[in-house]
Formats: sequence, structure tokens, C-alpha cells
Amino acid sequence: MPSRILKKRSLIPGQTSELVLDAPHIAAKAKPGNFVILRVSENGERIPLTIADTDKKAGTITIVYLVLGKTTAQLETLKEGDDILDLCGPLGKDTDIHKYDGPVICVGGGTGIAAMHHIAKGHHMAGNHVIAIIGARTKDLLLFEKELKRFCPEVLVSTDDGSYGHKGLVTEILEARLKADPTIGEVVAVGPVPMMAAVARTTKPFGVKTVVSLNSIMVDGIGMCGACRVSVGGKTQFACVDGPEFDGQLVDFKELSSRLSAFKAMEQISYEEFKKSHVCKCSH
Ligand SMILES: Cc1cc2nc3c(=O)[nH]c(=O)nc-3n(C[C@H](O)[C@H](O)[C@H](O)COP(=O)(O)OP(=O)(O)OC[C@H]3O[C@@H](n4cnc5c(N)ncnc54)[C@H](O)[C@@H]3O)c2cc1C
Ligand code: FES
Repeated sequence: MPSRILKKRSLIPGQTSELVLDAPHIAAKAKPGNFVILRVSENGERIPLTIADTDKKAGTITIVYLVLGKTTAQLETLKEGDDILDLCGPLGKDTDIHKYDGPVICVGGGTGIAAMHHIAKGHHMAGNHVIAIIGARTKDLLLFEKELKRFCPEVLVSTDDGSYGHKGLVTEILEARLKADPTIGEVVAVGPVPMMAAVARTTKPFGVKTVVSLNSIMVDGIGMCGACRVSVGGKTQFACVDGPEFDGQLVDFKELSSRLSAFKAMEQISYEEFKKSHVCKCSH
């Protein structure tokens, strides 16, 4: 079904944008953890993007994307008032949310911070004390700090270059919190695969439940094509229907990384061709 772009906000110019989409049927059903699959052009590929927020009353969903290759670059060319050719969702299992006696820590890295926002909000709505730990390479690349501060009593920031917050990695802040507070109920991590793997390594000695949201390559998003298969606890799982959230201690992150880069060379060619053709259209 097509979906109109009601609002577009550039979060990091040329790199990351937020779209508010008219999607009443998806907004009515979407829960934290769900994603959509969209297509921008008739012959284009289908790509999954997490639902970062919903407004059920207004019938809208919010998505945030990083321009990484051809399809996200095509998406970035759309403006307010344009339609996304088709949008399918909500997909994936809902986040398993419980009320804990102790705090829940939600860790986000890069664009994963926006995806983590909906999960953190779900934990807050369930009555949990949510501590957000967010990280980026540098201050200008940090997303959703203000949005998280609306309901998280603590938002702790790290940047690789020390331009804002703690100089270093999100896992350093996480480890310090785990040492200081034995009552932490759960840790959730959304972000680049190396970050999620590092979060799982950090929480392991503390025995705290750790949930990661996997971004494996997806095609149909309904469990039929097998593209998104991941190994979890030695068993094959389909991230689109069995996840995308899994127990971080059981995920084979090495296999996931290698599957994610399987089409790199083809993706690069396709992106270069798109950039050439796009420049050509604009200049004539
Ligand atoms: C459940 C889920 C939720 C996601 N949520 C977000 C989000 O909220 N924001 C965001 O910026 N990104 C998100 N992603 C990743 C996003 O789907 C990819 O960045 C996007 O598909 C890249 O497409 P491209 O054509 O622009 O880049 P390409 O050049 O085609 O690919 C760049 C890289 O993106 C990944 N990728 C490519 N095609 C797919 C595909 N069909 N499915 C998944 N990954 C792919 C691969 O790692 C690839 O190497 C999510 C992925 C999954 C599985
Ligand atoms: S995307 Fe096809 S089985 Fe999951």
C-alpha cells in the first residue's frame, strides 16, 4: 500500500533523515520491536526499517534511516507530500516487555538509537525506570537525545572522540552501571553488529538478560525466502518472523557480519550507478 510522507526532518544533513508517514493501519497495530518493509520504485528492492515511533491518534508512524546505498539514497530524494510506493507492516515479533523491580538499560549506537527509542518507550510505558546509553563517533552524529530525555530519567552519552559526554564506548558506561547496580533487570541493544556483540560480551559476566535487535538482510519479511537466517543458540532462526530481537548471548555475530557483507561488491556498483544517473537527472 502506498504511504504519504507527511513530515521530513534532516537529522544529520545528507546522511540521516526522519520521515513521518501516513499509515493508519500500521500505526493502529504497531508495537515496540516491529519494523516495516518498503519499496521506493517499481523495480527497486524491498528494505526493512524499524518503526521508531507511532502516533495512533494521528495514524502515523516514524522511521529514521541512514543513507547507506541505492535504496536509502532513493528514499532520501523524496520530499514531504511524496508517496512511498509501498509500505508493508508491522512486521516482526513485538518486544517482550515486563515490569522489572530494577532499571532497564537501553543501549543505542548510530541509527540504532532511533530504533531503540520505541523499545525504550515501551519499557517506560510498562512502568520501568529506563536508563538510555547512546553513542556516536562524534557529537554531530548523535541522534534522539532530546526525544529519549522526554521519558528516560537518565540519558548517558559517549562519543568516540570525546566531543560530547564520555570519551569512549557505550560498553564502558554500561559496564560501570552494571558494577554499580546489581538490580538491573534487562539490557537491550540496537546498533551496529560489533556494538551489539560487545554489549553481549559486557553483560555476560553479570548474568543480566540481554536482548539484541538483528539487522540481517531481508527480502520478503514473512519467513518464506530464508534471506534473513541467523544462528541463535546453534539453531537456524529467521530474523523477520522469529525476531528481530534475540538473546544476545546466543547469537552467532560472526556469521551475521559475514552474511551482511555478502553482496557488498554488487551493492557498491548499484549505488555508484544510481549516483551517476541521479546527478545526470538533476543537472539537465
Ligand atoms: C529489522 C531491520 C530493521 C532495520 N531498521 C533500520 C532503521 O531503522 N534505519 C536504518 O537506517 N536501517 C535499518 N535497517 C538496515 C536497512 O534495512 C539497510 O541499511 C538498507 O536495506 C540498506 O539498503 P541500501 O540499498 O540503501 O544499501 P545497500 O548498498 O543495498 O546495502 C548496504 C548494506 O545494508 C544492508 N542491507 C542491504 N539490503 C538489505 C536488506 N534488504 N535488508 C536488510 N539489510 C540490507 C547490508 O548490510 C548491506 O551491506 C534495518 C534492517 C533490518 C533487518
Ligand atoms: S526475510 Fe525472507 S525469511 Fe526472513
